[in-house]
Amino acid sequence: MEKERNSFTGSIGFVLAAAGSAVGLGNIWRFPYLAARDGGGLFLVVYLVLALTFGFALLMSEVAIGRMTRQSPLTAYGKLSKKFKPLGIIACIVPMLIMPYYCVIGGWVVKYFLAFLTGSGVSTAQDGYFTGFITDTSSPVGMTIVFLFLTMIVVLGGVDKGIERFSKVIMPLLVVLIIVISGFALSISHTDELGNVRTGFDGLKVLVIPDFTGLTVKGFFTVLMDAMGQLFYSLSIAMGIMIAYGSYMRDEDNMSKSVGQIEIFDTAIAFLAGVMVIPAVYVFMGREGMESSGPGLMFVSLPMVFEKMGSAGNFIGALFFALVLFAALTSSVSILEAIVSSFMDQFHMTRVKATLIEGVIALAFGLLVCLGYNKLYFEVTLPNGAVAQILDIMDYVSNNLLMPIVAIFTCILVGWVTGPEKIIGEITKNGEKFGRRGLFIVMVKFVAPIMLVVLLLKAVGII
Ligand code: PHE
Repeated sequence: MEKERNSFTGSIGFVLAAAGSAVGLGNIWRFPYLAARDGGGLFLVVYLVLALTFGFALLMSEVAIGRMTRQSPLTAYGKLSKKFKPLGIIACIVPMLIMPYYCVIGGWVVKYFLAFLTGSGVSTAQDGYFTGFITDTSSPVGMTIVFLFLTMIVVLGGVDKGIERFSKVIMPLLVVLIIVISGFALSISHTDELGNVRTGFDGLKVLVIPDFTGLTVKGFFTVLMDAMGQLFYSLSIAMGIMIAYGSYMRDEDNMSKSVGQIEIFDTAIAFLAGVMVIPAVYVFMGREGMESSGPGLMFVSLPMVFEKMGSAGNFIGALFFALVLFAALTSSVSILEAIVSSFMDQFHMTRVKATLIEGVIALAFGLLVCLGYNKLYFEVTLPNGAVAQILDIMDYVSNNLLMPIVAIFTCILVGWVTGPEKIIGEITKNGEKFGRRGLFIVMVKFVAPIMLVVLLLKAVGII
Protein backbone atom coordinates (compact mmCIF):
# COMPACT_ATOMS: atom_id res chain seq x y z
CA MET A 1 0.00 0.00 0.00
CA GLU A 2 1.25 3.49 -0.88
CA LYS A 3 1.95 5.54 2.19
CA GLU A 4 0.56 9.03 2.15
CA ARG A 5 3.13 11.47 0.81
CA ASN A 6 4.63 13.93 3.27
CA SER A 7 3.64 17.54 2.75
CA PHE A 8 4.29 21.07 3.93
CA THR A 9 1.68 22.19 6.41
CA GLY A 10 0.93 25.45 4.60
CA SER A 11 2.09 27.92 2.01
CA ILE A 12 4.41 29.77 4.40
CA GLY A 13 6.27 26.55 5.08
CA PHE A 14 6.60 25.87 1.37
CA VAL A 15 7.73 29.41 0.54
CA LEU A 16 10.32 29.52 3.33
CA ALA A 17 11.73 26.11 2.47
CA ALA A 18 11.97 26.93 -1.23
CA ALA A 19 13.42 30.37 -0.48
CA GLY A 20 15.88 28.62 1.82
CA SER A 21 17.01 26.55 -1.10
CA ALA A 22 17.22 29.54 -3.40
CA VAL A 23 19.13 31.73 -0.96
CA GLY A 24 22.57 30.21 -0.81
CA LEU A 25 26.24 30.84 -1.39
CA GLY A 26 25.47 32.21 -4.85
CA ASN A 27 23.52 35.13 -3.39
CA ILE A 28 26.36 36.07 -1.10
CA TRP A 29 29.56 35.44 -2.99
CA ARG A 30 28.58 35.87 -6.62
CA PHE A 31 25.67 38.26 -6.97
CA PRO A 32 27.42 41.28 -5.36
CA TYR A 33 30.54 40.67 -7.41
CA LEU A 34 28.64 40.42 -10.70
CA ALA A 35 26.65 43.54 -9.88
CA ALA A 36 29.83 45.51 -9.14
CA ARG A 37 31.51 44.23 -12.29
CA ASP A 38 28.59 44.51 -14.68
CA GLY A 39 27.60 48.13 -14.30
CA GLY A 40 25.85 48.26 -10.92
CA GLY A 41 22.25 49.32 -11.44
CA LEU A 42 22.42 48.11 -15.04
CA PHE A 43 22.97 44.55 -13.86
CA LEU A 44 20.28 44.93 -11.21
CA VAL A 45 17.66 45.98 -13.78
CA VAL A 46 18.59 43.21 -16.22
CA TYR A 47 18.51 40.68 -13.39
CA LEU A 48 15.13 41.85 -12.16
CA VAL A 49 13.55 41.76 -15.62
CA LEU A 50 14.91 38.24 -16.18
CA ALA A 51 13.68 37.10 -12.77
CA LEU A 52 10.15 38.27 -13.49
CA THR A 53 10.04 36.62 -16.94
CA PHE A 54 12.52 33.84 -17.56
CA GLY A 55 13.08 32.77 -13.96
CA PHE A 56 9.41 32.94 -13.20
CA ALA A 57 8.48 30.64 -16.12
CA LEU A 58 11.05 28.00 -15.21
CA LEU A 59 10.35 28.04 -11.49
CA MET A 60 6.63 27.87 -12.09
CA SER A 61 7.02 24.91 -14.46
CA GLU A 62 9.06 22.89 -12.01
CA VAL A 63 6.85 23.50 -8.99
CA ALA A 64 3.78 22.65 -11.07
CA ILE A 65 5.36 19.44 -12.42
CA GLY A 66 6.07 18.43 -8.83
CA ARG A 67 2.59 19.09 -7.51
CA MET A 68 0.85 17.65 -10.54
CA THR A 69 2.72 14.35 -10.53
CA ARG A 70 3.35 14.10 -6.78
CA GLN A 71 6.65 12.54 -7.74
CA SER A 72 10.35 13.10 -7.13
CA PRO A 73 12.62 14.55 -9.83
CA LEU A 74 13.78 11.08 -10.82
CA THR A 75 10.26 9.83 -11.51
CA ALA A 76 8.21 12.95 -12.31
CA TYR A 77 9.26 13.59 -15.92
CA GLY A 78 8.56 9.99 -16.93
CA LYS A 79 5.10 10.25 -15.47
CA LEU A 80 4.30 13.17 -17.77
CA SER A 81 5.78 11.49 -20.85
CA LYS A 82 7.49 8.12 -21.13
CA LYS A 83 10.05 9.53 -23.57
CA PHE A 84 11.23 11.97 -20.92
CA LYS A 85 12.19 9.34 -18.36
CA PRO A 86 15.93 9.80 -19.01
CA LEU A 87 15.53 13.49 -18.18
CA GLY A 88 14.59 12.40 -14.66
CA ILE A 89 17.86 10.52 -14.40
CA ILE A 90 19.90 13.59 -15.37
CA ALA A 91 17.80 15.78 -13.05
CA CYS A 92 18.72 13.43 -10.22
CA ILE A 93 22.40 13.21 -11.16
CA VAL A 94 22.73 17.01 -10.90
CA PRO A 95 22.02 17.22 -7.15
CA MET A 96 24.10 14.08 -6.60
CA LEU A 97 27.03 15.83 -8.23
CA ILE A 98 26.48 19.07 -6.34
CA MET A 99 25.92 17.54 -2.90
CA PRO A 100 29.53 16.43 -2.19
CA TYR A 101 31.25 19.68 -3.07
CA TYR A 102 28.53 21.82 -1.52
CA CYS A 103 29.25 19.99 1.74
CA VAL A 104 32.97 20.58 1.37
CA ILE A 105 32.38 24.32 0.95
CA GLY A 106 29.85 24.15 3.79
CA GLY A 107 32.67 22.65 5.85
CA TRP A 108 34.90 25.63 5.06
CA VAL A 109 32.11 27.90 6.30
CA VAL A 110 31.83 25.90 9.53
CA LYS A 111 35.58 26.29 10.05
CA TYR A 112 35.49 30.07 9.60
CA PHE A 113 32.38 30.42 11.72
CA LEU A 114 34.06 28.55 14.57
CA ALA A 115 37.21 30.64 14.19
CA PHE A 116 35.27 33.90 14.52
CA LEU A 117 33.02 32.54 17.25
CA THR A 118 35.97 31.60 19.42
CA GLY A 119 37.53 35.02 18.96
CA SER A 120 40.37 34.00 16.67
CA GLY A 121 38.84 35.32 13.47
CA VAL A 122 41.80 37.65 12.93
CA SER A 123 44.05 34.67 12.23
CA THR A 124 41.99 33.85 9.14
CA ALA A 125 43.11 37.14 7.62
CA GLN A 126 46.75 36.09 7.58
CA ASP A 127 48.40 35.56 4.25
CA GLY A 128 48.02 31.98 3.08
CA TYR A 129 45.58 30.95 5.82
CA PHE A 130 42.90 29.75 3.43
CA THR A 131 45.29 27.84 1.17
CA GLY A 132 46.90 26.32 4.23
CA PHE A 133 43.53 25.18 5.49
CA ILE A 134 42.18 23.60 2.30
CA THR A 135 45.45 21.85 1.50
CA ASP A 136 45.47 20.28 4.95
CA THR A 137 44.58 16.59 4.78
CA SER A 138 42.39 16.27 7.87
CA SER A 139 40.65 19.45 9.00
CA PRO A 140 38.56 20.09 5.84
CA VAL A 141 37.38 16.47 5.91
CA GLY A 142 36.26 16.79 9.52
CA MET A 143 34.38 20.02 8.77
CA THR A 144 32.73 18.45 5.71
CA ILE A 145 31.47 15.63 7.92
CA VAL A 146 30.02 18.12 10.42
CA PHE A 147 28.18 20.00 7.68
CA LEU A 148 26.90 16.82 6.02
CA PHE A 149 25.75 15.50 9.37
CA LEU A 150 23.77 18.66 10.14
CA THR A 151 22.10 18.47 6.74
CA MET A 152 21.19 14.81 7.23
CA ILE A 153 19.60 15.45 10.61
CA VAL A 154 17.19 17.98 9.12
CA VAL A 155 16.27 15.74 6.19
CA LEU A 156 15.80 12.73 8.46
CA GLY A 157 13.14 14.76 10.28
CA GLY A 158 10.96 14.64 7.16
CA VAL A 159 9.24 17.38 5.19
CA ASP A 160 7.05 19.04 7.80
CA LYS A 161 8.87 18.20 11.01
CA GLY A 162 12.37 18.52 9.56
CA ILE A 163 12.70 20.80 6.55
CA GLU A 164 9.71 23.06 7.20
CA ARG A 165 10.39 23.49 10.88
CA PHE A 166 14.07 24.21 10.26
CA SER A 167 13.32 26.76 7.53
CA LYS A 168 10.77 28.54 9.69
CA VAL A 169 13.41 29.18 12.33
CA ILE A 170 16.45 29.78 10.15
CA MET A 171 15.02 32.00 7.41
CA PRO A 172 13.72 34.77 9.71
CA LEU A 173 17.07 34.69 11.54
CA LEU A 174 18.85 34.99 8.23
CA VAL A 175 16.81 38.05 7.31
CA VAL A 176 17.56 39.72 10.64
CA LEU A 177 21.28 38.99 10.32
CA ILE A 178 21.58 40.33 6.81
CA ILE A 179 19.73 43.53 7.71
CA VAL A 180 21.93 44.10 10.77
CA ILE A 181 25.19 43.46 8.91
CA SER A 182 24.27 45.53 5.87
CA GLY A 183 23.22 48.38 8.16
CA PHE A 184 26.63 48.17 9.79
CA ALA A 185 28.40 48.03 6.41
CA LEU A 186 26.68 51.24 5.35
CA SER A 187 27.73 53.01 8.54
CA ILE A 188 31.49 52.51 8.20
CA SER A 189 34.07 54.79 6.68
CA HIS A 190 37.82 54.59 6.32
CA THR A 191 40.73 56.82 5.31
CA ASP A 192 43.41 55.01 3.30
CA GLU A 193 47.17 55.71 3.24
CA LEU A 194 46.70 58.30 0.50
CA GLY A 195 44.21 60.20 2.61
CA ASN A 196 41.16 59.19 0.55
CA VAL A 197 38.03 58.82 2.63
CA ARG A 198 35.58 56.16 1.50
CA THR A 199 32.23 55.61 3.17
CA GLY A 200 29.74 52.76 3.07
CA PHE A 201 27.44 54.94 0.98
CA ASP A 202 30.13 55.33 -1.68
CA GLY A 203 30.11 51.55 -1.89
CA LEU A 204 26.33 51.53 -2.18
CA LYS A 205 26.63 53.80 -5.21
CA VAL A 206 28.81 51.20 -6.93
CA LEU A 207 25.99 48.72 -6.45
CA VAL A 208 22.96 50.77 -7.44
CA ILE A 209 23.97 53.51 -9.87
CA PRO A 210 23.86 52.21 -13.45
CA ASP A 211 27.21 52.53 -15.14
CA PHE A 212 27.05 52.66 -18.93
CA THR A 213 30.66 53.75 -19.49
CA GLY A 214 32.09 52.02 -22.51
CA LEU A 215 29.08 49.77 -22.85
CA THR A 216 29.03 47.96 -26.19
CA VAL A 217 26.59 45.46 -27.64
CA LYS A 218 29.04 42.71 -26.81
CA GLY A 219 29.37 44.06 -23.28
CA PHE A 220 25.62 44.07 -22.87
CA PHE A 221 25.46 40.48 -24.07
CA THR A 222 27.93 39.56 -21.34
CA VAL A 223 25.81 41.33 -18.73
CA LEU A 224 22.74 39.48 -19.99
CA MET A 225 24.43 36.08 -19.88
CA ASP A 226 25.94 36.73 -16.45
CA ALA A 227 22.56 37.73 -15.09
CA MET A 228 20.85 34.73 -16.64
CA GLY A 229 23.41 32.22 -15.41
CA GLN A 230 23.28 33.70 -11.94
CA LEU A 231 19.50 33.78 -11.82
CA PHE A 232 19.22 30.23 -12.94
CA TYR A 233 21.57 28.96 -10.26
CA SER A 234 20.16 31.27 -7.64
CA LEU A 235 16.58 30.05 -8.01
CA SER A 236 17.75 26.42 -7.63
CA ILE A 237 16.21 25.58 -10.99
CA ALA A 238 17.06 22.48 -13.07
CA MET A 239 18.41 20.39 -10.23
CA GLY A 240 15.21 18.65 -9.30
CA ILE A 241 14.79 20.59 -6.09
CA MET A 242 11.74 22.61 -7.02
CA ILE A 243 10.03 19.50 -8.36
CA ALA A 244 10.63 17.73 -5.05
CA TYR A 245 9.40 20.70 -3.02
CA GLY A 246 6.45 21.23 -5.39
CA SER A 247 5.43 17.62 -4.84
CA TYR A 248 4.99 18.43 -1.15
CA MET A 249 2.87 21.53 -1.75
CA ARG A 250 -0.75 21.31 -0.69
CA ASP A 251 -3.41 21.35 -3.43
CA GLU A 252 -5.24 24.24 -1.86
CA ASP A 253 -2.24 26.61 -1.78
CA ASN A 254 -1.95 29.38 -4.34
CA MET A 255 0.99 28.40 -6.52
CA SER A 256 1.54 31.51 -8.57
CA LYS A 257 1.46 33.70 -5.47
CA SER A 258 3.92 31.43 -3.65
CA VAL A 259 6.32 31.33 -6.59
CA GLY A 260 6.18 35.13 -6.77
CA GLN A 261 7.09 35.28 -3.09
CA ILE A 262 10.06 32.95 -3.56
CA GLU A 263 11.38 35.16 -6.36
CA ILE A 264 10.99 38.30 -4.29
CA PHE A 265 12.67 36.68 -1.31
CA ASP A 266 15.64 35.42 -3.30
CA THR A 267 16.15 38.68 -5.18
CA ALA A 268 15.79 40.82 -2.06
CA ILE A 269 18.36 38.75 -0.20
CA ALA A 270 20.76 38.90 -3.15
CA PHE A 271 20.38 42.69 -3.19
CA LEU A 272 20.90 42.93 0.56
CA ALA A 273 23.98 40.74 0.23
CA GLY A 274 25.22 43.38 -2.21
CA VAL A 275 24.49 46.12 0.33
CA MET A 276 26.43 44.10 2.88
CA VAL A 277 29.45 42.95 0.88
CA ILE A 278 30.16 45.79 -1.54
CA PRO A 279 30.35 48.71 0.92
CA ALA A 280 32.42 46.61 3.36
CA VAL A 281 34.94 45.59 0.76
CA TYR A 282 34.93 48.93 -1.05
CA VAL A 283 35.55 51.00 2.06
CA PHE A 284 38.67 49.08 3.06
CA MET A 285 40.02 47.84 -0.25
CA GLY A 286 38.56 50.07 -2.94
CA ARG A 287 37.74 48.78 -6.39
CA GLU A 288 40.50 46.14 -6.32
CA GLY A 289 38.76 44.40 -3.43
CA MET A 290 35.85 43.73 -5.72
CA GLU A 291 37.88 41.73 -8.18
CA SER A 292 37.38 38.32 -6.65
CA SER A 293 34.21 36.33 -6.27
CA GLY A 294 33.45 32.94 -4.79
CA PRO A 295 35.88 31.47 -2.27
CA GLY A 296 38.43 34.24 -2.89
CA LEU A 297 35.92 36.87 -1.80
CA MET A 298 34.46 34.98 1.12
CA PHE A 299 37.50 33.31 2.59
CA VAL A 300 40.28 35.74 1.73
CA SER A 301 39.02 39.30 1.07
CA LEU A 302 36.25 39.44 3.65
CA PRO A 303 38.37 38.17 6.56
CA MET A 304 40.83 40.97 5.69
CA VAL A 305 37.95 43.44 5.83
CA PHE A 306 36.86 42.10 9.24
CA GLU A 307 40.40 42.44 10.52
CA LYS A 308 40.51 46.06 9.40
CA MET A 309 37.28 46.76 11.26
CA GLY A 310 39.23 46.53 14.50
CA SER A 311 37.43 45.59 17.68
CA ALA A 312 34.04 45.08 16.01
CA GLY A 313 35.57 42.82 13.35
CA ASN A 314 35.48 39.55 15.18
CA PHE A 315 31.86 40.00 16.21
CA ILE A 316 30.67 41.11 12.77
CA GLY A 317 32.65 38.25 11.22
CA ALA A 318 30.95 35.74 13.50
CA LEU A 319 27.54 37.13 12.55
CA PHE A 320 28.49 37.06 8.89
CA PHE A 321 29.65 33.43 8.88
CA ALA A 322 26.57 32.41 10.88
CA LEU A 323 24.52 33.98 8.13
CA VAL A 324 26.46 32.16 5.42
CA LEU A 325 26.16 28.91 7.33
CA PHE A 326 22.38 29.29 7.56
CA ALA A 327 22.12 30.09 3.86
CA ALA A 328 24.29 27.12 2.94
CA LEU A 329 22.47 24.68 5.23
CA THR A 330 18.98 25.41 3.92
CA SER A 331 20.38 24.94 0.41
CA SER A 332 22.14 21.66 1.14
CA VAL A 333 19.02 20.38 2.86
CA SER A 334 17.12 20.96 -0.38
CA ILE A 335 19.77 19.23 -2.48
CA LEU A 336 19.70 16.20 -0.21
CA GLU A 337 15.90 16.14 -0.22
CA ALA A 338 15.80 16.08 -4.04
CA ILE A 339 17.96 12.95 -3.95
CA VAL A 340 16.26 11.29 -0.98
CA SER A 341 12.79 11.79 -2.46
CA SER A 342 14.03 10.25 -5.71
CA PHE A 343 15.39 7.17 -3.96
CA MET A 344 12.20 6.84 -1.95
CA ASP A 345 9.92 7.03 -5.00
CA GLN A 346 11.99 4.93 -7.36
CA PHE A 347 13.25 2.21 -5.03
CA HIS A 348 10.50 2.37 -2.38
CA MET A 349 13.05 2.94 0.36
CA THR A 350 12.36 4.46 3.74
CA ARG A 351 13.53 8.02 4.35
CA VAL A 352 16.16 6.81 6.80
CA LYS A 353 17.67 4.33 4.39
CA ALA A 354 17.67 6.78 1.46
CA THR A 355 19.31 9.49 3.58
CA LEU A 356 21.99 7.15 4.89
CA ILE A 357 22.83 5.82 1.43
CA GLU A 358 23.17 9.29 -0.06
CA GLY A 359 25.11 10.38 3.02
CA VAL A 360 27.70 7.70 2.34
CA ILE A 361 27.89 8.56 -1.37
CA ALA A 362 28.26 12.28 -0.62
CA LEU A 363 30.94 11.57 1.94
CA ALA A 364 32.94 9.38 -0.45
CA PHE A 365 32.89 11.99 -3.20
CA GLY A 366 33.37 14.78 -0.67
CA LEU A 367 36.61 13.08 0.41
CA LEU A 368 37.71 13.06 -3.19
CA VAL A 369 36.99 16.77 -3.45
CA CYS A 370 39.06 17.45 -0.31
CA LEU A 371 41.93 15.34 -1.66
CA GLY A 372 41.77 17.39 -4.84
CA TYR A 373 43.59 20.15 -2.93
CA ASN A 374 46.40 18.03 -1.63
CA LYS A 375 47.16 14.39 -2.48
CA LEU A 376 45.25 14.38 -5.75
CA TYR A 377 46.12 17.92 -6.80
CA PHE A 378 46.17 18.64 -10.52
CA GLU A 379 45.18 21.49 -12.78
CA VAL A 380 43.08 21.38 -15.92
CA THR A 381 41.74 24.21 -18.02
CA LEU A 382 38.02 24.09 -18.64
CA PRO A 383 36.37 25.08 -21.95
CA ASN A 384 35.36 28.39 -20.35
CA GLY A 385 38.99 29.17 -19.61
CA ALA A 386 38.96 28.54 -15.85
CA VAL A 387 41.78 26.58 -14.23
CA ALA A 388 40.14 23.79 -12.27
CA GLN A 389 40.54 21.18 -9.55
CA ILE A 390 38.10 18.35 -8.77
CA LEU A 391 35.62 20.72 -7.08
CA ASP A 392 35.56 23.09 -10.04
CA ILE A 393 35.13 20.23 -12.49
CA MET A 394 32.08 18.92 -10.63
CA ASP A 395 30.74 22.45 -10.42
CA TYR A 396 31.30 23.02 -14.14
CA VAL A 397 29.69 19.76 -15.24
CA SER A 398 26.62 20.25 -13.05
CA ASN A 399 26.08 23.99 -13.41
CA ASN A 400 27.31 24.78 -16.85
CA LEU A 401 26.46 21.62 -18.74
CA LEU A 402 23.79 19.49 -17.09
CA MET A 403 21.60 22.23 -15.62
CA PRO A 404 21.03 24.09 -18.90
CA ILE A 405 20.33 20.72 -20.57
CA VAL A 406 17.73 19.79 -17.95
CA ALA A 407 16.14 23.23 -18.24
CA ILE A 408 16.03 23.12 -22.06
CA PHE A 409 14.29 19.73 -22.04
CA THR A 410 11.93 20.83 -19.27
CA CYS A 411 10.86 23.72 -21.53
CA ILE A 412 10.40 21.33 -24.46
CA LEU A 413 8.35 18.98 -22.29
CA VAL A 414 6.13 21.73 -20.92
CA GLY A 415 5.96 23.90 -24.02
CA TRP A 416 5.62 21.27 -26.72
CA VAL A 417 4.82 17.83 -25.31
CA THR A 418 2.30 18.27 -22.53
CA GLY A 419 1.54 21.82 -23.68
CA PRO A 420 1.61 24.86 -21.37
CA GLU A 421 -2.15 24.59 -20.83
CA LYS A 422 -1.68 21.49 -18.74
CA ILE A 423 0.70 23.29 -16.40
CA ILE A 424 -1.55 26.35 -16.32
CA GLY A 425 -4.42 24.03 -15.40
CA GLU A 426 -2.43 22.87 -12.37
CA ILE A 427 -1.53 26.43 -11.39
CA THR A 428 -5.13 27.63 -11.57
CA LYS A 429 -6.93 24.53 -10.38
CA ASN A 430 -8.63 26.29 -7.48
CA GLY A 431 -9.72 29.09 -9.75
CA GLU A 432 -6.73 31.29 -8.90
CA LYS A 433 -5.87 34.24 -11.10
CA PHE A 434 -2.74 33.74 -13.20
CA GLY A 435 -1.61 37.20 -14.23
CA ARG A 436 1.44 36.35 -16.29
CA ARG A 437 -0.27 33.62 -18.34
CA GLY A 438 0.56 34.91 -21.86
CA LEU A 439 4.09 35.68 -20.77
CA PHE A 440 4.46 32.20 -19.34
CA ILE A 441 3.46 30.56 -22.62
CA VAL A 442 5.78 32.66 -24.78
CA MET A 443 8.64 32.18 -22.33
CA VAL A 444 8.40 28.45 -21.92
CA LYS A 445 7.80 27.70 -25.61
CA PHE A 446 10.20 30.07 -27.31
CA VAL A 447 12.26 32.58 -25.36
CA ALA A 448 13.56 30.47 -22.48
CA PRO A 449 14.75 27.48 -24.55
CA ILE A 450 16.54 29.75 -27.02
CA MET A 451 18.23 31.71 -24.24
CA LEU A 452 19.22 28.49 -22.53
CA VAL A 453 20.78 27.10 -25.70
CA VAL A 454 22.82 30.30 -26.00
CA LEU A 455 23.89 29.93 -22.35
CA LEU A 456 24.94 26.34 -22.96
CA LEU A 457 26.89 27.22 -26.11
CA LYS A 458 28.67 29.94 -24.19
CA ALA A 459 29.52 27.53 -21.37
CA VAL A 460 31.15 25.04 -23.73
CA GLY A 461 33.10 27.83 -25.37
CA ILE A 462 31.41 27.70 -28.79
CA ILE A 463 30.34 31.34 -28.67
N1 PHE B 1 20.44 28.57 -5.10
C1 PHE B 1 21.61 28.48 -4.31
C2 PHE B 1 22.40 29.77 -4.34
O1 PHE B 1 22.02 30.76 -4.87
C3 PHE B 1 22.56 27.44 -4.73
C4 PHE B 1 22.13 26.06 -4.71
C5 PHE B 1 22.82 25.22 -5.48
C6 PHE B 1 21.11 25.60 -3.97
C7 PHE B 1 22.52 23.95 -5.50
C8 PHE B 1 20.78 24.32 -4.00
C9 PHE B 1 21.48 23.52 -4.78
O2 PHE B 1 23.47 29.80 -3.82
